[in-house]
Amino acid sequence: MSSLRICCIGAGYVGGPTMAMIAKQCPDISVHVVDLNQARVDRWNSDDLPVYEPGLYEVVQEARGRNLTFSTNVREAIHESDIIFIAVNTPTKSFGVGAGRAANLEFIEKCARTIAECSSGHKVVVEKSTLPVRTAEAVKRILESSGNGATFDVLSNPEFLAEGTAVQDLLHPDRVLIGGESANAVEKLAAVYARWIPRDRILTTNLWSSELSKLTANAFLAQRVSSINAISVLCEATGADVDEVAKAIGTDSRIGPKFLKASVGFGGSCFQKDILNLVYLCEHFGLREVAEYWEQVVKMNDYQKRRFSTRMVRTMFNTVSDKRIAVLGFAFKKDTNDTRESASIHVCRDLLEERAKIAIYDPRVPESQIRDELRQSFADAMGGISEQHSRLIETNVTVHASLYEATEKAHAVAVLTEWDEFRNFDAKRVLQSMFRPAFIFDGRNIIDRKRLTETGFEVHSIGRASSV
Ligand code: UDX
Ligand code: UDX
Repeated sequence: MSSLRICCIGAGYVGGPTMAMIAKQCPDISVHVVDLNQARVDRWNSDDLPVYEPGLYEVVQEARGRNLTFSTNVREAIHESDIIFIAVNTPTKSFGVGAGRAANLEFIEKCARTIAECSSGHKVVVEKSTLPVRTAEAVKRILESSGNGATFDVLSNPEFLAEGTAVQDLLHPDRVLIGGESANAVEKLAAVYARWIPRDRILTTNLWSSELSKLTANAFLAQRVSSINAISVLCEATGADVDEVAKAIGTDSRIGPKFLKASVGFGGSCFQKDILNLVYLCEHFGLREVAEYWEQVVKMNDYQKRRFSTRMVRTMFNTVSDKRIAVLGFAFKKDTNDTRESASIHVCRDLLEERAKIAIYDPRVPESQIRDELRQSFADAMGGISEQHSRLIETNVTVHASLYEATEKAHAVAVLTEWDEFRNFDAKRVLQSMFRPAFIFDGRNIIDRKRLTETGFEVHSIGRASSV
């Protein structure tokens, strides 16, 4: 029996699944996941996990109660562990210096201080959260200033899992990246991953390369989406078809086929935040041209989201006021219940500004979360939520239990998340219950355009001329 003990602070989309996988693959290592949020911990200990990921429930069920524990006992877990992961969230700062760009490191700093207080002997502290470059250095200084004799090695081990495919990504990662100065500490962590991941996929670098690689990977991925979305605008103007263009260019082995799907815009907790971090970092070093280059990826994404709602209004005779619009999908991508930075939030807000009535259906996102996101979105845009917008969310938003319920008596359907069940719905049934012309705006290019056009819908896709 190995005596290795691991804990992870932060039981979110990253900490929860990652630790569950380590516990599943290494039955002899004790894994303790801790979080300040009691309600979240309770759900990790129930059958209704707070994170929806295909296959995750089975992984948790296998390890929970054996060598995987979830609790709020942060201090005790730190004290007892050899390796401590930090996987707390690092939102973009909303105030003060760097507001709207820099990462808010308040939680990271608090974690480092708690670790310093509760530690004795030697600990390996692993940054799992995406952080600005050189944060590890700050964490190390805080840890070393505790003065209670404990010693620390700090490693950067960024997570590359994508939500919706987290279990597969954790099982078969393209690579695991470990950055750190101490060869012993790096090996200690590498040995854990090597239980199920081939050694040649475990890359080791210095701390800063590791931190910067995470930001760069996300910036490159987001850049591909913004690049194809930029081309989608040109396709709509010229009569080219963006999916045909994507296929044609993706077969070039130097370009490759992935991340070339034109869409209503990328979302998720990472892309925008990480690029803004990169931009902030470049500005900090006086690299204006480099900062502007990356910032354009985010600007393009904002434009793509806004363009979608503008196109809807323009197509529907320049008014959507009082019209019912069925919004299919609220999560930022399929197979997750995460809605952070989802393009759907922006489109819904724009439509509400136009006084539309929106009928939302998402298979995994609960009503309370949808309303909270919309309220927050108005608050962010206006610097606080007004009485008027609050009322608008009350009166003009309904949340439904099925696609058929949401599309009932609608003037238009907007597909905003690529859930599989939106591909093959009963088109005749939906058409019969809708007003004419029955508009469909496909923000994900997933519906069968030919079939729906033949059924009698007027279809508008991304990066293609419209069907009328
Ligand atoms: C992760 C990464 O850590 C983040 O840096 C990356 O950019 C996005 O993915 P994620 O797991 O998605 O974050 O965040 P979230 O689901 O919000 O989980 C963080 C958890 O940490 C929450 O459950 C929160 O309650 C907990 N937390 C936060 C603490 O336990 N202590 C704190 O001090 C702060
Ligand atoms: C991303 C990175 O992929 C992952 O490695 C990192 O650890 C965290 O950030 P995630 O945000 O979970 O993962 O999902 P991802 O699959 O990258 O999608 C991000 C957004 O881009 C989604 O809104 C998705 O719909 C959109 N997207 C992706 C497109 O619009 N087109 C594409 O071709 C690919």
